[in-house]
Amino acid sequence: MSHTILVTGAAGYIGSIATEVLLQEGYNVIALDDLSTGYKEALFNSVPFYNASIGDISRLKDVFSQNKIDVVLHFAGAALVSESMTNPFKYFNTNFCQGQNLLDVMLLCNVNKIVFSSTCAIYGMPKPEKIPIKETTLTKPINPYGESKLLFEKALEWYKKSANLDFIALRYFNVAGASKTRGERHNPETHLIPLVIKAAKNKNFKLSIYGTDYPTKDGTTIRDYIHVIDLVYAHISAIEALINKKNHQDAYNIGYGHGYSVLEIVNSVQEIFQTTISLHIADRRPGDPSTLIADPRKIKEDLNWKPKYNDIKEIISSAAKFIE
Ligand SMILES: NC(=O)c1ccc[n+]([C@@H]2O[C@H](COP(=O)([O-])OP(=O)(O)OC[C@H]3O[C@@H](n4cnc5c(N)ncnc54)[C@H](O)[C@@H]3O)[C@@H](O)[C@H]2O)c1
Repeated sequence: MSHTILVTGAAGYIGSIATEVLLQEGYNVIALDDLSTGYKEALFNSVPFYNASIGDISRLKDVFSQNKIDVVLHFAGAALVSESMTNPFKYFNTNFCQGQNLLDVMLLCNVNKIVFSSTCAIYGMPKPEKIPIKETTLTKPINPYGESKLLFEKALEWYKKSANLDFIALRYFNVAGASKTRGERHNPETHLIPLVIKAAKNKNFKLSIYGTDYPTKDGTTIRDYIHVIDLVYAHISAIEALINKKNHQDAYNIGYGHGYSVLEIVNSVQEIFQTTISLHIADRRPGDPSTLIADPRKIKEDLNWKPKYNDIKEIISSAAKFIE
């Protein structure tokens, strides 16, 4: 019997690609999104869609009473670090308070399994000796975005202890790449790979590099870029673990366990596009850690996650056709 998955944030970058892969893998999907940063065109005609906010308890009750949902994939959220510094209220409201509505309505309607989109931003500025980052590394967010995600993880832990909730929080590192039909489209775009591709395609767009004096091999920051399809399959591993009541940790780091510097990404894009990108060297941004690399061993061991697209050129090439 195929299981039914509620995807919140289904019109967004990751939620839409998750919907695509879930359908390919034979799951039934119900989509929910308030279209605040997502796009109607990213939805699937074959999937029932609720144009609703997770802040709207009455609409959430409709969703859960009209469908027999087995597991929730909770992607909906506000996800811009810089915006969170100037508008922390939005971040605590959307990512924490509204998320709590979702949990309450789930439990009211006897749905008790959820996979949550968390982030490496919960680790803040880890010390160099803590790289690659394990799940046990100290969590110390340095912006409201990371703090709101960590608070929601804490709420999940307490709901698990006291209300029979079962959950897995996946702490994504830098998600990139695309499926054949859907890609990354944020406005404003703050992620490096789409910005470098934009600079390669538009001669008038100068790419800003924030800091060239970090203690890394070429002075620029290093990140662990994970292909969105591998990330989505980590969610499928998490869904199966929850459904089959497999032993699992509360949270897993999701990355490949190695990183690329900003200049290495620029060089890869230049090679793929056979072009030269114009660069603007700017000061470091406050709160930008030097290096963020995941230690993904636990999810591989516990949930048998087997990434297949660990190739930066493939990630960039797949992303390119969705970037103007
Ligand atoms: N993209 C990354 O590299 C990355 C890294 C770490 C964590 N994450 C997390 O993954 C999730 C998805 O990220 P994304 O890049 O696809 O973002 P996105 O902005 O493309 O998608 C988020 C979706 O949620 C919807 N949404 C926002 N608030 C909502 C609300 N209150 N009710 C219903 N829908 C709402 C938006 O309309 C959008 O379609 C987010 O929670 C984000 O914090 C993303």
